[in-house]
Amino acid sequence: MQIINETRRDVGLLRSAKHFGEDHACSPSTCLLRCTSANLALFPVDVSWDGRSTLEADEHATASTDAGNALNVAAIRKWFANSAGEGLPTGAGDDNMSSAGWRETNRANWDERVGVHLGPGGYDLSALRAGCGQLNEIEEKELGDVRGLRILHLQCHFGRDSLTLAQRGAEVVGLDFSHSAIEAARKLAAELGLTARARFVEADLYDAPAAVAEPASFDRVFVTWGAINWLPDIARWAHIVAHFLKPGGSLSLAECHPAALVFDDMVPLQGGLPGYFAPYFGREPIVTDDARDYVDPDARLANARQYNWRHPLGDVVGGLIAAGLRLEWLHEHDRVPWQMFGCLVRDSSRLYRWPDRPWLPLAFSLSARRA
Ligand SMILES: C[S@@+](CC[C@H](N)C(=O)[O-])C[C@H]1O[C@@H](n2cnc3c(N)ncnc32)[C@H](O)[C@@H]1O
Repeated sequence: MQIINETRRDVGLLRSAKHFGEDHACSPSTCLLRCTSANLALFPVDVSWDGRSTLEADEHATASTDAGNALNVAAIRKWFANSAGEGLPTGAGDDNMSSAGWRETNRANWDERVGVHLGPGGYDLSALRAGCGQLNEIEEKELGDVRGLRILHLQCHFGRDSLTLAQRGAEVVGLDFSHSAIEAARKLAAELGLTARARFVEADLYDAPAAVAEPASFDRVFVTWGAINWLPDIARWAHIVAHFLKPGGSLSLAECHPAALVFDDMVPLQGGLPGYFAPYFGREPIVTDDARDYVDPDARLANARQYNWRHPLGDVVGGLIAAGLRLEWLHEHDRVPWQMFGCLVRDSSRLYRWPDRPWLPLAFSLSARRA
């Protein structure tokens, strides 16, 4: 387990964060990835981790993610500075925090964020309110015509993207474990006159099959930007996605590329490129204590702790295949909807890319279809 404690604020992040909220450059979840990884560069932090593998099989869903001892940031930095790649640190630090309460902790964090995101410093919903909600360019290009489709939007937050899909003629069920998010989504749907096409369900992702008793009844499952990083068990997530798809139905997934999560501005390379931060195959939870919000720079969260997981691309694709889906396409993008690293520059599509050449993928998207 990694534990990250924010110890000071940084104007750079707050500028970027405000930017996220104002122009829809990214969805809420994406920014969290930056908070847990890339932004570490901007802050002196304490980072700890337990190098063991996270969870075992079906224990994931009920989420006993017990973590053992941890190492601090000095040990991690020292390892990255001196190691040729072998001998990852494996615990034995002084932080003995258990991660058994990850779900309650994350839910409290999200419940609080909803109020912030709907407040004066929060999201700009003017396009949605004008009847023309927009997704990021990456999803827009890949989405296709959704008219008449039944779409299950997992981890829908307060429904901005769900309602955008409903505005385009889809029948949407949005699911999220945050009471505040679902309450707000229902209110927004009513305000926009979309209740006939958008329904919202409050439930944990792993309880979705019971909460939405409609197996094999969706044309599309839609999951974007910073959703799967909140989930400890990606294989079980994949089975839940498959459970809801009609035969012939497909998953649309767009997420931060796990390869990019290896890097961070915390230990920058010469020239400003991000340096190494965390091992690609690290499956342990990362725990962040960060009172900031990524949309409203003035907000300070009382429920600051968050638990996140990284999922290697092979785990995501392999999990979907094991769940019975066929991969239709997988795109790797050298752009991402938020300023994940300080050196990224914004382009005309309002996405962020590398300043000179596309060093590494920053995002991926895929479509996987049920036979
Ligand atoms: C950053 S948001 C995703 C945003 C989404 N792409 C959208 O349409 O705006 C992440 C969402 O995941 C939800 N979430 C996190 N963990 C969850 C869980 N275990 N079950 C259900 N929802 C969860 C949070 O409440 C939050 O609304």
